[in-house]
Amino acid sequence: MNEVPNEASGVQLTAAKLIELTEKYIMETYSPLPVVLVRGKGPWVWDIEGRKYLDMLSCYSALSHGHCHPRILKVLIQQAKTLANISRAFYNDQMGLFCKELAEFAGFPKVLPMNTGAEAVEKAIKIVRKWGYTVKGIARNRSKIITCENNFHGRTITVISFSSEPLYKENFGPHTPGFEIIPYGDLKALKNAIDENTVGFLVEPIQGEGGVIIPPEGYLKGAKEICQKNNVLFMLDEIQTGLGRCGKRFVYEYEDAKPDILTLGKALGAGPCIISAVLGGEKVGDILKPGEDGSTFSGSPLSCAVAREGLKVLVEEGLVENSYELGNYFMAKLQEIETPFVKEIRGKGLFIALEIKPEHGDARFFCDKLWKEGLLCKETHFTNIRLAPPLIIKKGEIDWAIKRIKKVLQAPQD
Ligand SMILES: Cc1ncc(COP(=O)(O)O)c(C=O)c1O
Repeated sequence: MNEVPNEASGVQLTAAKLIELTEKYIMETYSPLPVVLVRGKGPWVWDIEGRKYLDMLSCYSALSHGHCHPRILKVLIQQAKTLANISRAFYNDQMGLFCKELAEFAGFPKVLPMNTGAEAVEKAIKIVRKWGYTVKGIARNRSKIITCENNFHGRTITVISFSSEPLYKENFGPHTPGFEIIPYGDLKALKNAIDENTVGFLVEPIQGEGGVIIPPEGYLKGAKEICQKNNVLFMLDEIQTGLGRCGKRFVYEYEDAKPDILTLGKALGAGPCIISAVLGGEKVGDILKPGEDGSTFSGSPLSCAVAREGLKVLVEEGLVENSYELGNYFMAKLQEIETPFVKEIRGKGLFIALEIKPEHGDARFFCDKLWKEGLLCKETHFTNIRLAPPLIIKKGEIDWAIKRIKKVLQAPQD
């Protein structure tokens, strides 16, 4: 094993040592593959021993621009040297432009900048509840938001309160009240769940962490119509699926089902920055008032400058179109692989899952094999291998991946 100097301590650390050290000091909430990554460029990353891998996870879809995109890096360094953080106590020269450019990119009048995805979802819930009390006229503390089984919207206490996954919530009560969970993809269930206290319906247009589950065609449009008819706000969480990941700027464009509230995150930070946002239509754009919300790092000039450049790169480098075209190509090539192990291949754009037949065990086994072949993938919900490369990926790199995926899906024991 190569030994690399650790500049801070002067100690020579190997991959094994770094893993051991991490496990000793971190409160471990993940089960990472035992690979120590030290460098990235485009869709590629290198481990501490110099081995090269194709990144098929893209930081859970946050790395659409790839690693170390030169335009993003340039703005990151320039802005870090100029003004990185200043708080929302003052205006800065990046935040307003970021809000304007994101509002125009997505076609919404107002933007609330935040940091993580879960935080954006929390703020969307606050907005909708306040709308319920101050506009719809619901009695204080009686509001209800409808969510879906198998959802994933983050890990805060309120957000896990409406998770249907026991592992995420069981030991973390008491939970936040005010949510009802219905089956995903079921319009009848939505209609039946709405009552006089319902303020919003919060849904992922494709369930990402749930295993790239695509609802029946017409679901989003139908859900929007039901919400409109019942004076309920339609809230889409496109934190993972948005900004081109699924072959359109937003998944709702496939069905012309623009929501009242949209949450974005992940790829909004263009790779290195942590920034999310709540976008609001006319009904909710001005609901929150000064003092009712806040977050120290929200709207930082550093994150906003990088996010602005990230949006420009998405448009100017045609990343949304690339996701659409190469997503179709990738899916077609995957469908051609003859394998006894795969139950189903699902996807839209460069957001794809290979579902392994349950009798063939855990998808983690296949991810370990793919890693040995030079592909970094992560299982989701035990049976799915998620394939979500950076949107800057090229056709030749997909061919490179297909060769290795084929090898593993045909002879995983080799
Ligand atoms: C749809 C969706 N919403 C929210 C989140 C939470 O984002 P974060 O991890 O940045 O809090 C995720 C993360 O995977 C997600 O996929």
